[in-house]
Amino acid sequence: MANILASTKLQPWWLLFVSLLFVSNAEPQVPCYFIFGDSLSDDGNNNDLSTTAKVNYSPYGIDFPKGPTGRFTNGRTMQDIIGLHFSVSLLQLLDFQEFIPPFATSSGQEILKGVDYASGSAGILNETGQQVILYNNGARMLALFGIGSIGCTPNAIALYGTNGSACVEKMNSDAQLFNERLVSLVDELNTNLTDAKFTYVYPSGTTSANSLGFTVTNASCCKIESGRGLCIPDSEPCSDRN
Ligand SMILES: *[C@@H]1O[C@H](CO)[C@@H](O)[C@H](O)[C@H]1NC(C)=O
Ligand SMILES: *[C@@H]1O[C@H](CO)[C@@H](O)[C@H](O)[C@H]1NC(C)=O
Ligand SMILES: *[C@@H]1O[C@H](CO)[C@@H](O)[C@H](O)[C@H]1NC(C)=O
Ligand SMILES: *[C@@H]1O[C@H](CO)[C@@H](O)[C@H](O)[C@H]1NC(C)=O
Repeated sequence: MANILASTKLQPWWLLFVSLLFVSNAEPQVPCYFIFGDSLSDDGNNNDLSTTAKVNYSPYGIDFPKGPTGRFTNGRTMQDIIGLHFSVSLLQLLDFQEFIPPFATSSGQEILKGVDYASGSAGILNETGQQVILYNNGARMLALFGIGSIGCTPNAIALYGTNGSACVEKMNSDAQLFNERLVSLVDELNTNLTDAKFTYVYPSGTTSANSLGFTVTNASCCKIESGRGLCIPDSEPCSDRN
């Protein structure tokens, strides 16, 4: 996780959400599972896209069984961990071999079971009513993630400075404002769309990077290419990546 925080080009208004799609409620199993999000959830979609937000090189993936895959981290993404947590009840029912595949490399059959659409450096548009669009396409269980302490990332600190605080307070207060409104939106969606279940997921670490378990919070684990905010290819990362 260290490299996610080190290298992601974070912007204040990022919405991360995962949706669990229940197309039919006749069977006691999950018919499909889809992920939408940004670099916190991307598992390879950016590799062949025309974007500078690419991480399919070392030291990304240094602690991941398959090495660099396009995950913006040394190890697993948040979505990999959630997927594994549900592996018996959810993923095995859907017959995923291990992790949910990226949309970019998925076949038609896989897309019917579920794929990960997340793309590093993705943002949201003002006019996007994504939750309602998903609902109209059959989604009945949706989890929407709040934004964590993005002002505590080494990248944010290096970019904007902290003015004497531990973190970039403006970014954290913006994230908090976003989260408050997201909670209201989730309430409203549950009120309006009674046959669906919307869940707000609290972000981990609401006050500082230390609360996420990081002991070094003002420097990144890998050497960063200036301007791009990503690890220098094949550079040596820090030894304590926990
Ligand atoms: C989004 O909405 C805000 C507030 O209404 C506005 O300032 C901004 O220009 C809008 N951005 C786009 C891309 O439309
Ligand atoms: C920096 O902190 C000082 C003292 O708290 C405050 O007056 C000032 O507005 C802050 N500047 C910025 C850019 O946040
Ligand atoms: C919920 O329904 C009300 C009343 O129809 C509507 O004004 C509001 O925009 C709806 N909210 C959402 C999030 O769809
Ligand atoms: C990070 O903080 C430590 C302890 O406060 C300090 O010694 C170190 O120089 C800082 N590193 C950077 C890159 O700012």
